[in-house]
Amino acid sequence: MEAALSKYEIAVVVGSLRKDSYNKKLAHAIIKLAPADFQFKQVEIGDLPLYNQDDDANPAPSVKRLKLEIAAAQGILFVTPEYNRSIPGVLKNAIDHASRPYGQSAWVGKPAGLLGASVGAIGTAVAQQELRNVLAYLDMPTLGQPEVFLNAKDGLFGEDGSIGAKAEEFLKTWMNQYIDWVKKHAL
Ligand SMILES: Cc1cc2nc3c(=O)[nH]c(=O)nc-3n(C[C@H](O)[C@H](O)[C@H](O)COP(=O)(O)O)c2cc1C
Repeated sequence: MEAALSKYEIAVVVGSLRKDSYNKKLAHAIIKLAPADFQFKQVEIGDLPLYNQDDDANPAPSVKRLKLEIAAAQGILFVTPEYNRSIPGVLKNAIDHASRPYGQSAWVGKPAGLLGASVGAIGTAVAQQELRNVLAYLDMPTLGQPEVFLNAKDGLFGEDGSIGAKAEEFLKTWMNQYIDWVKKHAL
């Protein structure tokens, strides 16, 4: 059943900490393609400690903040590069943090979408498949199509940092599908 909310908050998780990250740029650019009733907020993952199960009972302030931000969101948007044919460790670290303690995961049921850009020819395809595996375990309904594998070299962004003309139509289609997906699955 579709939830009748007047506003949807989306937590954006970017899998790169790099200052000039293509994926950070992609995250900023794509949210401009969303309707006004959708608000996007990038969650900080660069200040999280390395996950250690011993800390579950006494999480760091950055971990508490992450979990609250995920819990408050109606949907999650992952925008990530591919590192060595998988997701970057910083992203997995953040996912693990918000999934614990056992039985208190912040991710459960949150509708998710994923995008990625890399300089490699297959544009994060393997990383995304690995991420899908993790999200399935976390019980997150994840948009299946269209898949978005972007090559960062290919005129991806315009001069002003917006999505370049080549990818814009396709990414608008993706965003429309994502919006419908979140509305359908928002708790
Ligand atoms: C540790 C590391 C591993 C990488 N592994 C891959 C890879 O498996 N596939 C790929 O397409 N690009 C790979 N790259 C290149 C990334 O696509 C490139 O660095 C890209 O700019 C990272 O995304 P960002 O700009 O958002 O930081 C790797 C880069 C790093 C630093």
